[in-house]
Amino acid sequence: MLTTLNEILPQARKEKRAVAAFNVANYECALAVIRAAEGERLPVIMQLFQRMFRSEKGGDLAGTLLRLAHRCSMPVVLQLDHGAEAWQIREALAAGMSSVMLDGSMKPYEENVSLTSYAVRTAHMVGASCEGEIGHVAMGDDNALTSVEDAVRFYSDTKVDALAISVGTVHGFYKAAPKIDVARCRAIAEALGGVPLVLHGGSGTPPADIVALIENGISKINIATEFMDTFLKSTQRNLEALSGGFKAVDLFNDPVVDDCAAYAAKLLRFFARK
Ligand code: 13P
Repeated sequence: MLTTLNEILPQARKEKRAVAAFNVANYECALAVIRAAEGERLPVIMQLFQRMFRSEKGGDLAGTLLRLAHRCSMPVVLQLDHGAEAWQIREALAAGMSSVMLDGSMKPYEENVSLTSYAVRTAHMVGASCEGEIGHVAMGDDNALTSVEDAVRFYSDTKVDALAISVGTVHGFYKAAPKIDVARCRAIAEALGGVPLVLHGGSGTPPADIVALIENGISKINIATEFMDTFLKSTQRNLEALSGGFKAVDLFNDPVVDDCAAYAAKLLRFFARK
């Protein structure tokens, strides 16, 4: 069933568990996520990168995701990931996404507040939810850890439904072991009461750090790189096994979907502390 962050994250936060948010870019990965959620009997979030809304891909895939979400018996949130501009928020909501993220974390504070507040208002108008980011989780650029003061000020200025904070993770594969600042996460969580906190750059983060962060306020964990890499590696293995032969693409993709579903199920369970 299609739902929003507000129906699943506050409860997860109370119960000290997190919901996995997988970035998907095709039907096979989305199918794998839905099968994993059904199999584990757990809620899940599926995300589309904002760049997909720069072409027909975003709207086209949103239609498929909506169908999958509606037929799933577990709660499914469909979220725009890292929305950068107001039109992307409108595009994603018009395409039926039930949640949006406005990432103004690289912009000056006032601009971040103004764009994020617009996204919150627009999302709420159509019954959707909205995530914002303060501090910055690096995407090949510089990390800026979130301060408690900025988190409190930003939340009170925007009233986002979920807040992405920067506590040492980065997007993509780590080049060196990350230093995760659990104490910072705890301090932000304590200062913000029950506001669900979001961890970006989940791929490759050491499991012990993930557990500590979930115990200290993180209730949504974004995973893109490792999930997509699972798809690519599985495709490569199956292509090598085919050794130049032919297989209809839907049949070729079946074992790839199985591998992606197994990966998604493992993380859903782990983040739910099962
Ligand atoms: P990773 O690619 O490091 O898993 O990060 C995903 C993410 O934060 C998407 O918003």
